[in-house]
Amino acid sequence: MKVIVTKSYDETCTVIAEMIRDLIARKPDAKLGLATGGTPVPIYQKLIQMNREGQIDFSQVHTVNLDEYCGIPGTHEQSYRYFMDSNLFDHINIPKANTFVANGMGDFEANAQELEQKVREGGPADFQLLGIGNNGHIAFNEASDHLISVAHVENLTESTINANARFFEKKEDVPTRAITMGMGDILAAKTVVLAATGLAKVPAIKGLIMDDVITTQNPSTLLKLHENAVVVIDKELADAVGYQG
Ligand code: F6R
Repeated sequence: MKVIVTKSYDETCTVIAEMIRDLIARKPDAKLGLATGGTPVPIYQKLIQMNREGQIDFSQVHTVNLDEYCGIPGTHEQSYRYFMDSNLFDHINIPKANTFVANGMGDFEANAQELEQKVREGGPADFQLLGIGNNGHIAFNEASDHLISVAHVENLTESTINANARFFEKKEDVPTRAITMGMGDILAAKTVVLAATGLAKVPAIKGLIMDDVITTQNPSTLLKLHENAVVVIDKELADAVGYQG
């Protein structure tokens, strides 16, 4: 696992947007695994800018998102489909048909199977972007005594519901379940890049970069098994976890 320490979160986002730009230059029909949440928003803004400037052509790119809440439709402002459209897809030249976010309505188990099929379709993702939960969750694979390798329906933990309540009017509105890629789906990507910032992430990042332990209680630690995993953090977070390089 490679760790990159940047001067600032803005630089983290530039570094990752440039990785994606360079990948698409090499492979115009690249398959990207994408994330939602607060962390990737500035990365997506940089990708939009690069697309406007003609630095990236998304016309042949395919994307699959990590997860989606159960029980809210894609038209709901807090759904991850809505998030992806409004934060990225509506502003770049990607055909919507090339983008996949699991359906959060109807038969959740069947929707999870459809997500699994999309993960496998056309082979592994060339690049998987990840954030990390305060409890070390990756996508919505929550800290637990066991983890699931394939796409599935997950019950969200209290920690995740509390962290995501900031996006909803009230905590009770946060969905309690989500459809998520499994850990095997994520580890199957050719390159996995995790971005993190903020002191709330200190315990999770400590477990990820400061020792060689793998534990299902911090799902991110499974990235230690990946040959091409990159963690990008800013100096403030690196200092807070005591990372010296
Ligand atoms: C989102 C996702 C989650 C987030 C994580 C961090 O698709 O899979 O694992 O990456 O909850 O969220 P933020 O970036 O809001 O701190």
